[in-house]
Amino acid sequence: MKAVVYKGKDQVSVEEIPNPRIEAPDDAIIRISSAAICGSDLHMFEDRSAAGPGTVFGHENMGIIEEVGPAVRSIKQGDRVVLPFNVACGFCFNCARGYTNACLTANPEGTTAGYGYAGMGPYRGGQAEYLRVPFADFNCLKLPGNEGDELEDDFVLLADIFPTAWHATEQAHVHEGDTVAVYGAGPVGLLAAYSSLLKGASEVFVVDRAPERLQKAKSIGAIPVDFTQGDPAEQIKEIRKRNTRQQSALRPEDRKMEGVMCGIDAVGYQARDDRNPDREDPMQVIRQLSQVVNPTGHIGIIGVFFPKDPGGVDEHARKGEYLFPLGEIWDKGIGIEMGQAPVKRYNVFLRDMIINGRAKPSFIVTQRLPLSQAPEAYAHFVHRGVGAGKDYTKVVLKPGLDRAA
Ligand SMILES: NC(=O)c1ccc[n+]([C@@H]2O[C@H](COP(=O)([O-])OP(=O)(O)OC[C@H]3O[C@@H](n4cnc5c(N)ncnc54)[C@H](O)[C@@H]3O)[C@@H](O)[C@H]2O)c1
Ligand SMILES: [Zn+2]
Ligand SMILES: [Zn+2]
Repeated sequence: MKAVVYKGKDQVSVEEIPNPRIEAPDDAIIRISSAAICGSDLHMFEDRSAAGPGTVFGHENMGIIEEVGPAVRSIKQGDRVVLPFNVACGFCFNCARGYTNACLTANPEGTTAGYGYAGMGPYRGGQAEYLRVPFADFNCLKLPGNEGDELEDDFVLLADIFPTAWHATEQAHVHEGDTVAVYGAGPVGLLAAYSSLLKGASEVFVVDRAPERLQKAKSIGAIPVDFTQGDPAEQIKEIRKRNTRQQSALRPEDRKMEGVMCGIDAVGYQARDDRNPDREDPMQVIRQLSQVVNPTGHIGIIGVFFPKDPGGVDEHARKGEYLFPLGEIWDKGIGIEMGQAPVKRYNVFLRDMIINGRAKPSFIVTQRLPLSQAPEAYAHFVHRGVGAGKDYTKVVLKPGLDRAA
């Protein structure tokens, strides 16, 4: 079968590799109908992770069950399913408590497992024609309808970024009426803003520099903030001050709460320095969040930080160590939560919001391409919404388009 294989820094190719087969009685094999490319794949693509050449990419996978092992009970050949990017057993101490992002069974070398990802176990990725799914009863989320129908690109986002973005709003304690600042208008940031609005937030700001991504933020009712136009934390406070109706509802002392209650970092360790976007400043976003989040507020760090980063800006960053204003955050009594999203906790109810027309996350999808075009897709998407990547927000690969061609 054909699959997207990592070759080394800034290089992937589409190659023939052996088809997956049933290895354990509770495995299933799916034929991939859609596999999305993620900002998380870019860390590996840019050689900013432990991924080595030969890694088959793809953790946002959806398709049709081709074959099931003898112990699989609840799904059968022909079923349409989407898979959480976390591979999880469903029965260990962590899975049983809903922390499928920290499954103790699925990765012999660690406490987290996923498809096609450095350090996340022996599972190949699904940017390919077929994929082996372990613990299939637990991991497959059943979907209605038919391959390629009008909900295909909504459903594929249930593998990662819609539940991940929803989880970011949980980390940041977003509730009805809340004020929210989301840093990053990539797929995760846009859907974190969208999830905040679905939860009933009253004001949602989205910070980035990529024009089309900021435009998408505006299209869903969020307030775009371009970080190249000045300190975004100050811009957000200024915009709030100009909201005269809201301001006149405050008592004088309430004006000390000039920022927002909830902050989300949907950028991670590859954050750009807003005064010189050619450079990285991994703590830029956390520093600005500590300024813009009000006392007693919450910060969710859904953007990735790794324990090792071969391309880190300095000796500390290379070891995953960072300097950030803990004193200010402590003084303001701000809570911080972070880490990988437990997709399974959210994917059922988000699926049902899609089915019943309450959510349409596919507004972020900009390209639907055959698998054979993965190398060009990576080459554009890696620019993260600027320059050669300006039209690329979310790419979904469709192996079926290669067969049709
Ligand atoms: N925790 C999880 O489970 C999980 C799951 C999926 C993705 N992620 C991570 O979420 C992050 C975002 O993913 P994505 O797919 O949206 O990626 P992306 O790379 O497409 O988007 C990142 C965006 O951040 C913007 N940005 C860069 N520096 C900035 C700054 N200083 N201020 C504001 N915006 C800035 C970029 O312009 C870009 O649009 C990545 O780190 C990804 O690995 C985490
Ligand atoms: Zn992903
Ligand atoms: Zn488990």
